[in-house]
Amino acid sequence: MSLAPMDLDALHRKRNAKWSTFAPDVLGMGIAEMDYHLAPPIRARLASLLEDERTGYPTRGPVGLMADVSGSFTRRMARLFDWQADPAGNVVCVDLLQAISACLAAFSDPGDGVLIQTPCYPAFLVALDQGRRVLHDVPLLDTPSGFRADPAPAASLARRGLSPRIMLLCQPHNPTGRVFTRAELAPYIRLAEAEDMVIVSDEIHADLVFAPARHAPLAQMFPEAAGRIVTLYSATKSFNTPGLRCGIMHFGTPDLLERFRARVPESLLGLPSTGAMEATLAAWEESDDWLAALMARLDDQRHRLTDVLRDADPRLRCALPESTYFLWLDARAMDLPGGAAQFLLETARIGMIDGASFGPGWNGFARLNYATTPALVDALCSRLTQALRGKSGGAG
Ligand SMILES: Cc1ncc(COP(=O)(O)O)c(C=O)c1O
Repeated sequence: MSLAPMDLDALHRKRNAKWSTFAPDVLGMGIAEMDYHLAPPIRARLASLLEDERTGYPTRGPVGLMADVSGSFTRRMARLFDWQADPAGNVVCVDLLQAISACLAAFSDPGDGVLIQTPCYPAFLVALDQGRRVLHDVPLLDTPSGFRADPAPAASLARRGLSPRIMLLCQPHNPTGRVFTRAELAPYIRLAEAEDMVIVSDEIHADLVFAPARHAPLAQMFPEAAGRIVTLYSATKSFNTPGLRCGIMHFGTPDLLERFRARVPESLLGLPSTGAMEATLAAWEESDDWLAALMARLDDQRHRLTDVLRDADPRLRCALPESTYFLWLDARAMDLPGGAAQFLLETARIGMIDGASFGPGWNGFARLNYATTPALVDALCSRLTQALRGKSGGAG
C-alpha cells in the first residue's frame, strides 16, 4: 500500500490547526497532525455514513458503537501487545485531554501534586493548570545516549519535599520519542506503591514505534500494579483523525473504575460522534497496511532529517526518535536569537513548538513534526540547512 501525500494547496484548504497557526508562507510543522490522505478504509467508512445519512444518536450500553469501540480496543491490545484488557474496565470518551482532566478530578483534589516527566506534552500542563493541580516534575535526564527516565524519582521528590497523588506518564514519549524500558519504569511503579499514587499512562503514540524498539502497555508490563493504572489510547494520532474526537480509557481493576465513577458522572465524558467511532473502528480493524506504509515513510524521514540537522551544525543535538513523528531539537549551544523555534520561524519560515511549552527549564529546545509529504521534507531539509549554516557562518 502506498501513502498518498496531500499537496500544499490541499493542506491549506484543510483549515486545521496545523496549517492555520502560522502565516501562509510558513511550513506548519508544529501541531501533531499528519499531511497524508486518510487510510482508504476510514474514507470509505465515513463516505458510507453520509450515504446512509447516519446522523442520529449513537446508542450507549452493551450493544452499539460505543460497545464496538470498546471490544475493538480489547482485541487490538491482545493482537498488537499480547495484553488482555478486560472490556469491563473500558470507558469510551471524546478525547484524551478530557480523560486526563477526568482522572485528575477523580483521583486528586485542587492543590495536589501531579508527577510528570518533563519535557511533556504541553496539554498535560494545561490540564494541571485548569484543574488547579501542581506540577511535581521529574525531568528526563539528558545523557550522551539520549534522554532517560530519572532512575531515582523518589529521591528527587523527597529532596524537594514533594509527595504527588497522581503520575501522568506519556509512553511512548511526546516529545522525545523515547520508548521507556521496563527497567526505567520500575522505580515509578515502586514509587506509586509507596505513595499510593494512581498512574495515568497516556499511550496514544503506541502504534508509532520503530523496530527494534517495542511498545508494551504499562498495565501489561506491571500486572501487579493494574489496580493503580489507567491506560489511555486512541486512533487519532496514528491514523490522523484528531478532528473526529474519540478516545478510550482502561481501568486496571473494577475498584479503580468504581473510584473514578464515584467522582466523574458518565454524562461528563460525553459521547463521541458516530463518525468518530466508525473511523476508529475502521482504523483499528482495517488499516494496518496503511499504518505499515506510514511507519516506513516516517522511518525514512526521521533518519534523513536527523542527518540533515546534525550536518547543518554540530552544536545542534537531535537524537533519532524511537517512536512518534517528532524531532526534539536541543539548540541551547547555538544560542539562537529568541530560541530555536523563533529563529527558525523568522529565518527559515518553519513553524515549530518552542521548548518552553513543554515544562520549566526546556527553553532552547524545540519540537518539529516531520510527518509531512516528500516534497515538504525536501523543503524542510533545504530551509534548515540554509538557516543553520548561515548562523554558523557557512561552516560545515
Ligand atoms: C501524549 C498525547 N496525548 C493526547 C493527545 C491528544 O489526544 P486527542 O487526539 O484525544 O485530543 C496528544 C496529541 O498530540 C498527545 O501527544
